[in-house]
Amino acid sequence: MSEPADRRYGPATLPRERGPLSAAVVEALRHPPHDLPADLGVGLDPADPITDEDLQLTLFLCYELHYRGWLGVDESWEWQPTLLALRARCERVFEAALRRLVGAPLVPAAGVAAGLAELVAADDGPSLAATLQRRADLTQFREFVVHRSVYHLREADPHSWALPRLGGPAKAALVEIQTDEYGNGRLDRMHAELFRCTLDRLGLDTAYGAHVDVAPAVTLATNNVMSLFGLHRRLRGALLGHLAAFEMTSSLPNRRYGNGLRRLGFDEVATRFYDEHVEADAVHEQIAAHDMCGGLVRVEPALAEDVLFGAAAGLAVDRLFAAHLLDRWAAGRSSLRTPAPPALPPRVSLVALPAVAPPAPPALV
Ligand SMILES: [Fe+2]
Ligand SMILES: [Fe+2]
Repeated sequence: MSEPADRRYGPATLPRERGPLSAAVVEALRHPPHDLPADLGVGLDPADPITDEDLQLTLFLCYELHYRGWLGVDESWEWQPTLLALRARCERVFEAALRRLVGAPLVPAAGVAAGLAELVAADDGPSLAATLQRRADLTQFREFVVHRSVYHLREADPHSWALPRLGGPAKAALVEIQTDEYGNGRLDRMHAELFRCTLDRLGLDTAYGAHVDVAPAVTLATNNVMSLFGLHRRLRGALLGHLAAFEMTSSLPNRRYGNGLRRLGFDEVATRFYDEHVEADAVHEQIAAHDMCGGLVRVEPALAEDVLFGAAAGLAVDRLFAAHLLDRWAAGRSSLRTPAPPALPPRVSLVALPAVAPPAPPALV
């Protein structure tokens, strides 16, 4: 039987459990909504919440109910009170870990845009992008794409949670950025769809959520941090700071990713997603720092600290993600929970890529 076409857009298949907490949630979600045991997750205290497989998957399972949901799972689970209570217990542990990771509260001395620029300039994480550009083999590049697929197949969605929570200049700037991310309303230009073409060219499953099972905790954490900020209005400053840091550290790495794929012999269909971000994010970076975060803080000055916290948390979790991949590769191991599957044949059902712009008409003389 052929798969339903909308498997591309979700919902995803429920992942396998990774410990007692995620096992309890996966099992519960297979049944109609009901109360979970009152003590589930009480006293939760993992040694390292950000790399704890059971905690990160539990959070991801809960958060996904607010995006596309899970295949075969009753949609009413989204607002089931005891599941929300469990999520809150997990979030307290996760947020505390993020705040420990970032350190002392950051107060911008010369405006929030300058504070963001300082954070980005001080970001001295391992250069995953340089490795992918110069040295990574095809297996490693495919692994990188598998990790990133968890986010890129729903690119921009977590930050859209901020839209109804904002007004004024910050909202206008966010809309400008998100409009580009969503391809100005054209399916074939949506960044998520461009990424689907990259997955396809690399012979990887293009379905929404297809690779969640093999994504380790740190990869889920890069997603969960956006969902945590996105689903709590009190963290709207952190959500915008996260997006700003994301855009401010995107242009050069994306050039490197595209070059890495070209080095490995891939064509412009495979690299289009990355090439698109080189110029787009050079523009987004300015809008995000000055118009969006600057605009927010002009209206709500008390949120400056949150903006920098969100940016710093995003950068810090991404450094852990990069270190995970590079450490595993240096040890000759896969960075995934199980190695990526062999290549699938490219499919023809993907949306057509944007046509190349026609040449300008000859100048009238
Ligand atoms: Fe994008
Ligand atoms: Fe962008």
